[in-house]
Amino acid sequence: MKLTVIGCGYLGATHAACMAELGHDVLGMDSDMDKVAVLNSGKAPIHERDLDDLIAKHTASGKLSFTASYAEAAAFGDLHFIGVGTPQQPGENAYDLSHLFAAVRQLAPRLKGPAVVAVKSTVPVGTAPRVRDIFHEFAPAGDRIEVAWNPEFLRESFAIEDTLRPDRLVLGFETEHSWAEAVLRQCFDKIIESGTPAIVTDWATAELAKGAANAFLATKISFINAMAEVCEKSGANVAELADILGHDVRIGRRGMRPGLGFGGGCLPKDLGGFITRADDLGADEAAGILREAAAVNARRRQRVIDLAREELGTDLRGKRITVWGAAFKPETDDIRDSPALAVAQKLHELGATVTVTDPKALDNARKLHPELDYVEDPIAAVDDADLLLHLTEWHQFTHIDPKRLATRTTSPKVIDARGTLNTDQWREAGWITRTLGRI
Ligand code: UGA
Repeated sequence: MKLTVIGCGYLGATHAACMAELGHDVLGMDSDMDKVAVLNSGKAPIHERDLDDLIAKHTASGKLSFTASYAEAAAFGDLHFIGVGTPQQPGENAYDLSHLFAAVRQLAPRLKGPAVVAVKSTVPVGTAPRVRDIFHEFAPAGDRIEVAWNPEFLRESFAIEDTLRPDRLVLGFETEHSWAEAVLRQCFDKIIESGTPAIVTDWATAELAKGAANAFLATKISFINAMAEVCEKSGANVAELADILGHDVRIGRRGMRPGLGFGGGCLPKDLGGFITRADDLGADEAAGILREAAAVNARRRQRVIDLAREELGTDLRGKRITVWGAAFKPETDDIRDSPALAVAQKLHELGATVTVTDPKALDNARKLHPELDYVEDPIAAVDDADLLLHLTEWHQFTHIDPKRLATRTTSPKVIDARGTLNTDQWREAGWITRTLGRI
């Protein structure tokens, strides 16, 4: 098939490359000319496992190219995916849909024949009819433009895997028996043939699916972190508790790692966006559980600050604190709403000198937080530290021998906010250890 992907950020660039991998001819479109040039040179505009290789493979094979022209995109094929970003509105929880509507308004007047427009961007429920109205009013093809909703569920650093081998495909249509269904089934035929369930539903359910999935994942993390608070008061061990609960298949251990809580460009934003939309719809009581999940998440960050003050005294001025981790999770350079950096920045505000290290995210962190100090080597980063904080669980950190570190600090104290350090080993090496959910 010949298809386009409008918006070539993290979601769109991945989707475009994966569609080429499925055998389609793909034109990616992005209004950022610099990004288009990078992509056409065979490189990914973001750091994502194997994405550079996949883009290089298919720009070379001729199956994948990129443009900044809506006219070219409109003329290229009859299936258009939209994967532009829907960030948070500044200072609010609601989604900023301006990129989505800008793309729709640019594409619509250029669609001369029947086409399927499949939206992948995450939106508040109720957006699809507004998108349809614009196409039907402004496209020369009018109501022969069929709008479909096809949310994505990919995780950063597993984006290609999650696109090519997803748990499920969700296809939302305005009416039953939409002709767009056959088009999308053909597009995803290799994925469907390999056994992935394709769930066909209405627009509203498809729109809700993504936000609800992320709201659940966030709540699951906050549930175990709420248990961590109880463990801290009762002397129980939250890691062992999570293992015990996880053996019940109805609960499951995956996505229930206790620690510093969730961050990133998705879970916090989608949780906030979901709550705001539920409130607008008059379902504010239902959103109560999600508000609580957000509050638990914020308390985990505060807990690390409180522990740091317990160890170093309430006045942090003049204290030297080393932070292992800047990325919002391991294996990415993404620092959006990073719990690690939020804690680092707060400690800096309280007067501490904070040195941050991270295997991949230092360049991004430097730009956003020039007030912090940065050191590449995690071992050198602890030199003269009064306290070490383990805030993002990179395997590089968990493999460092604590004996090599103890003498480099002023006093060997560590707070393990992710629960992945071998604390027995650290204690034997002379460290005082505190672990979230175990103290
Ligand atoms: C998340 C969802 O997992 C994807 O299903 C979804 O498609 C994606 O958002 C999106 O909306 O695009 P992602 O943000 O890449 O994916 O990362 P996760 O692996 O879910 O981690 C999110 C945050 O939760 C991280 O800060 C991580 O450290 C934290 N986390 C995750 C925990 O604290 N405990 C866990 O058990 C899992």
